[in-house]
Amino acid sequence: MLRVAPSLLSADFGGLAEAVGEVSAEADWLHIDVMDGHFVPSLTIGPPVVKSLRSHTGLFFDCHLMMTNPGDYLEAFRHAGADGCTVHVEVGATAELLAQAKAFGLRAGLALNPETPYEAIAPYLAEADLILCMTVHPGFAGQRFIDEVVPKIARTREELDRRGLLTDLEVDGGIDENTAVLAVQAGARVLVAGSAIFGDSRPWEAARRIRLAGEKALAGHK
Ligand code: DX5
Ligand code: ZN
Repeated sequence: MLRVAPSLLSADFGGLAEAVGEVSAEADWLHIDVMDGHFVPSLTIGPPVVKSLRSHTGLFFDCHLMMTNPGDYLEAFRHAGADGCTVHVEVGATAELLAQAKAFGLRAGLALNPETPYEAIAPYLAEADLILCMTVHPGFAGQRFIDEVVPKIARTREELDRRGLLTDLEVDGGIDENTAVLAVQAGARVLVAGSAIFGDSRPWEAARRIRLAGEKALAGHK
């Protein structure tokens, strides 16, 4: 099964509810990028915005916490209506953060930056509900997909399958209908896309094209 998760980072922040409406027919999840101005230079969305969006859609909220201290906010995101929260392995205390997220009833994700080796997440493949391989350096939308991450996606997929783990494998950064194919062939099953979707005048059609490209790659790969 393949999922498409439009990233609201590339939407018009003055009209987020409308942006959600534009993609909801073609979105499996909504990807919400939380940036703290510290782990990454940008500042974006916090729990109040998640809470406001919650009344506009029943879609799964996939919150990507690019934060130095995500543990201080997991409960607030849960109360605001987040379904899943993904923390970065680079901030440390990984086992504690994953356990904490689950204790709040969240699906617990673990992200790693392009330069962070597979070995950093290897101990947590069973504890995490989702592994997020960043395919750009986090902080900004509209960057180019980093091909060098592909072998790491494949390595993660190989290990998940070998151990029979159902942990989701998500990619984020520079995903469009071409790079989606590379990511799916390597083993990703959740595709986050920001500018390829919201940069299109018909965001739902762009999301659909990414889904079709990914499904075709999946079918060809089996
Ligand atoms: C980058 C964010 C991504 C970003 C993706 O730091 O985590 O979710 O929105 O945007 P595109 O698809 O434009 O790379
Ligand atoms: Zn993201």
